[in-house]
Amino acid sequence: MAPSVHNTQPWRFTAGGQQISLHADTERQLRVADPDGREMMISCGAALFTARLALRSLGYRPETSVLPDPGQALLVARVSWQGRAACTEFEQELFGQVRQRRTHRGGFDLVPLPPGLLAALRQGAARYRAMLRIVADDGRRAALAAAVEAAERAQRLDSQRVRELARWAPAPGSARADGVPPTSYPARAERTDPDFPGRDFAHGRGWGLPALSTAPPFRSAGVAALLTTVRDRPADWINAGQALQRILLTASTVGIAAALHTQPLEFGWLRESIRAQLSDGAYPQLVLRFGAVVQAVASVRRPADDVLSADGSDSAGASHE
Ligand SMILES: Cc1cc2nc3c(=O)[nH]c(=O)nc-3n(C[C@H](O)[C@H](O)[C@H](O)COP(=O)(O)O)c2cc1C
Repeated sequence: MAPSVHNTQPWRFTAGGQQISLHADTERQLRVADPDGREMMISCGAALFTARLALRSLGYRPETSVLPDPGQALLVARVSWQGRAACTEFEQELFGQVRQRRTHRGGFDLVPLPPGLLAALRQGAARYRAMLRIVADDGRRAALAAAVEAAERAQRLDSQRVRELARWAPAPGSARADGVPPTSYPARAERTDPDFPGRDFAHGRGWGLPALSTAPPFRSAGVAALLTTVRDRPADWINAGQALQRILLTASTVGIAAALHTQPLEFGWLRESIRAQLSDGAYPQLVLRFGAVVQAVASVRRPADDVLSADGSDSAGASHE
């Protein structure tokens, strides 16, 4: 149920006894846009947070080791549970959002975020040694939007990238349980000022949801932010993913949705320019926008049987390496 880049769901769980192992599935990695597997690992981090939260909702105390085996680079984490502790109200609220939360693609209503939310999101990120930096200054926000726009333009001119995106953009009515379905993005892009263009999932085929007739003509870009880490190793990507899912679920508990824009982080020169100019040298892992909006989108996921096997051994993961 976690978010993942292009809804690739690049994870496999194996369970045995009181332990779950989470492996990255490189068959689902974006070879062109994400050759280092950074976004794949962020996605796995989000799945790890979700699995731990699920255990908490059942009253278990998960013990997690991230990248436990240097010989198995694709073994993202092992989670075991021995002790029990009652689930807190906040954890329950977060867990309640796991199936509700959806990525937003477009503008937001012109209403402020609930007081205290950004502070809570920042604290949530800090638990995973990640930093949520709010890009509030108009000039910096415009610079970030310009980076998204530049990336989107470059992406649309690159046939390899276009083909890769098309592989994860199923047609309307598709029975696929992965990829970004037309039920999850608007048919007509909604412009905001500054404009953060979305990905071109429909690729000129007119797919997507019709505009809500009640949507007001003026929409806000929302509160823009960067999720960053001090270093840029696989462990940092996994932690950024954990922080991301905590942030998204926390926002969702108060009716706030997030739009994600990783386009500029998939081009080395743009990522480097954001790092130097907008994040004090820290490594940008995600570009986010937060805001209030009525959502009518639907996404898909693979059934549990496809991602979870009862075999507790890690050998399947090792064979990938
Ligand atoms: C690392 C990462 C990068 C993402 N980048 C984008 C993006 O650039 N544009 C976008 O619309 N969604 C992006 N997403 C959101 C995914 O497309 C989304 O999580 C997935 O389609 C599942 O849908 P859901 O979040 O509504 O459940 C990203 C998600 C992750 C985890």
